[in-house]
Formats: sequence, structure tokens, C-alpha cells
Amino acid sequence: MNEIKLGIFGLWRGGSFLHIINSLEGAAVHAVCDKNGDKVAEALQTCPDAKVCADFDELLDSGIDAVLLCNYFHQHASYAIRAMKRGIHVFSECTAGATMKECVELCEAVEETGCKYMLAENYPFSAALLEAKRLTDEGSFGRILYAEGEYNHTGPREMLAGLTPFPYHWRAWLPRTYYVTHSLGPLMHITGQMPVQVSAFAVHSDVLEEYDDFRHNYDAFAMMSCMTDGGALFRFTGCAHMGSPSGYRVVGENGSAETGRTLGGNLNVTYHTWTTPEGKPSSETYAPDWPANGDLAEKAGHGGGDFWTVYNFVEYIRNGVVPFFDVYRGCCMSAVAILGWRSCLENGRVYAIPDFRDKAQRDAWRHDDLTPFPDENGKVTLPCAVPKK
Ligand SMILES: NC(=O)c1ccc[n+]([C@@H]2O[C@H](COP(=O)([O-])OP(=O)(O)OC[C@H]3O[C@@H](n4cnc5c(N)ncnc54)[C@H](O)[C@@H]3O)[C@@H](O)[C@H]2O)c1
Repeated sequence: MNEIKLGIFGLWRGGSFLHIINSLEGAAVHAVCDKNGDKVAEALQTCPDAKVCADFDELLDSGIDAVLLCNYFHQHASYAIRAMKRGIHVFSECTAGATMKECVELCEAVEETGCKYMLAENYPFSAALLEAKRLTDEGSFGRILYAEGEYNHTGPREMLAGLTPFPYHWRAWLPRTYYVTHSLGPLMHITGQMPVQVSAFAVHSDVLEEYDDFRHNYDAFAMMSCMTDGGALFRFTGCAHMGSPSGYRVVGENGSAETGRTLGGNLNVTYHTWTTPEGKPSSETYAPDWPANGDLAEKAGHGGGDFWTVYNFVEYIRNGVVPFFDVYRGCCMSAVAILGWRSCLENGRVYAIPDFRDKAQRDAWRHDDLTPFPDENGKVTLPCAVPKK
């Protein structure tokens, strides 16, 4: 196969992928598009030969094989569908779809076009979480009963405002369940299990409400609980404002693994006294090695996860290696985010998560387009914060 020609749509987040693509053999940044000229100028410093496109249509016309969608959080699905209808493969930043209707349409576009689609969830691919997966897969912990994920993204007010450049920007209206892939994605990847129902509660923050700017999401966090298709319980945040580093834990009948929070990038592995494998300590904390490509992963952002998402996508296109986060798992996470939010607004009501591989289950949500994100006139159809108690 010739060199894979990649286009990047959105160069704020998309800028982090430029040097990673440059470091991979057989792939190149062929074209870029962002309406922000400063971001384009920055990108050209790393990829001077990239074609600059004025809009998405020009990007699709530029001769690319695949597009990296790094545009606004709630606008990925419609652009993904447009690209796939042109036979262009898609790497989509999270989230896959911002409404249930979009999730249904996205799955059907992948099926109808036969294009390759990958959700670019990156947090499962740190060295510690890959090691937790290796141990889980080899059965060290026995049957998995429980897992938890806490993604924290705190920062001073100026930083939060800087990430939210205009009043109808998605970050100003993002309910706390919606940015769920960094907390739920690692649990699904480690265990191979899918959520089948969700119940959630969000907690209001007076401090966030007192910030006098145009952000309207005043909850500090939402906590979601899901039963899975493997009979385990997952408990996780979306994006939380909790003040500690992110953390993850997976618990089986024989043992458990934990990383983040006070452990940093280390992994703690603990067994019961009576289940400790021969020759191993009942509890140990260590810094796991990378399974491969450590030299490249070390240089990439988000604990190396940014490298693995691009690498996995290129492997998918070049060698047909199907990535874990396909359209069905991507839409499953979006559905947890969306229905988890309905649950928060309805006092923890339990919602079933549809299996998007099943057309009958898709049909139940085909026309559901409720959204907390404003259109160009500021109209929303769902609140983005729970009422203060
Ligand atoms: N996986 C991660 O670790 C990670 C980290 C940061 C952001 N993200 C994701 O990346 C996406 C983008 O977030 P961000 O932080 O870059 O902020 P952002 O959403 O504010 O930036 C989007 C960029 O896309 C450009 N853009 C949007 N629509 C466009 C259009 N129609 N034409 C041309 N340019 C357009 C904007 O000018 C901007 O530069 C979001 O989905 C976010 O969730 C993921």
C-alpha cells in the first residue's frame, strides 16, 4: 500500500497528532483544516508540506485516505458520516455522537459504506492500564466483579475560561456525564465488557456557579453506575472537578489492580492471601514496561495514549488490525454519557444501554435528538446542570 494520506480537521487537539504521524512510517499529514489561522500556522511548522484547506469539503477533496476529526466535541458524527459517504476512513475524537439519533446514524453509515471507523479514546493506552489489561486477560484476577474510573480535569478559573473561547462553545454546556470515554473507556478495554444499564447522580458546586462567566455547567461531577454484559459493576465519573489526579481500579474474585490517584503512573497489584500466585508478593507496586514501541509512546501526550491511538488507526488501515474502540463501543460510551445524564435529571432512573449492533435496539432511539448543546441561536433541549438542592 502507498503512504496513507491523512487529513486533520481541527488543529487545537489535532495539533498533538502531527509529530506522532511524522514519526510513523507509511503515513503522512497530507492536508489540514481549521478556521483558526493561528492553529494552521502552528501546524505548518511541524508539517510544512501539508495542504491547507479552507473548509471540510476542500479537505475531503484533497486526496486524503482518512480524516482525523478533532473538531468540536458535539459535532463529530455528522462530519464522520460526510467523510465515510466519500469513502474516507475516520478517526474520531471523543465523543462518537452527541445524541442517540446521531449514534444510530453513525453506526448505519459505517455499515453502509464499509469504511473504517475508530474512536480515538486514548486513556486506556498508558503503560499501567495496558499492564492491568494484560493481567486481566491472562486470568490473574479471576472473574471481574467491579471496576472504577475517575477522570479529573480540574484547573484554575483562567484555564477553564481559556478552553471555552465563546458563549456557545461545547465546554460551556458540557454536562458532567458527557465526557465519559476517559473514565469508562479504560474499564471496557481492560475487561472487554460493555455496559448494559446506567444510573447516575450529579452534584452541584457553589464555587463553579459563582464563576461569573458564560459557562453553565455548575456540577462538580457526576457518578455513574453500570451493570455490564459480563455481570460486573462499573462505577465511574465523566469529566470530574474533584481536585485529585485521575484513577482506575479493576477488581476480580482473586485479585485487583489499581493506578493513578496517589500511585501516579505506577500499578499496584494485590491478591488475597489465599489467592496469591506462587512466587509473587500478595501486594506490589511497580512501573510497568511498555508492551512495544516504548520509545515512541514515551514522547507522546496523555501517558503515551496519543501515540497508540494513531498507531492503532494506521494499523487498521494498513493491515486490517481491527481496533478495540470500533463504532459500536464508541456509541455505547456515548449512550452511557447521554442516558447517564437523563438519569441524573430523573433522580437516578435506570436506563438500558442499547446494543448498537442490534437494529431493533437502535430503532427505539432512532429519532431521539435531545441535546444540552446550543445551536447557533442558543437553543438547547436539555439542561446541562442539575438544580441546586
Ligand atoms: N483525547 C484527548 O485526550 C483529548 C484532549 C483534548 C481534546 N480532545 C477532543 O478534541 C476535540 C476538540 O477539542 P479541543 O480541545 O481541540 O477544543 P475545541 O473544540 O475548542 O477546538 C476545535 C478546533 O476545531 C476547529 N473547528 C471546529 N469546527 C470547525 C469547522 N467547521 N471548520 C474549521 N475548523 C473548525 C476550531 O477552530 C478549533 O481550533 C473535542 O472532541 C475534545 O473532546 C480530546
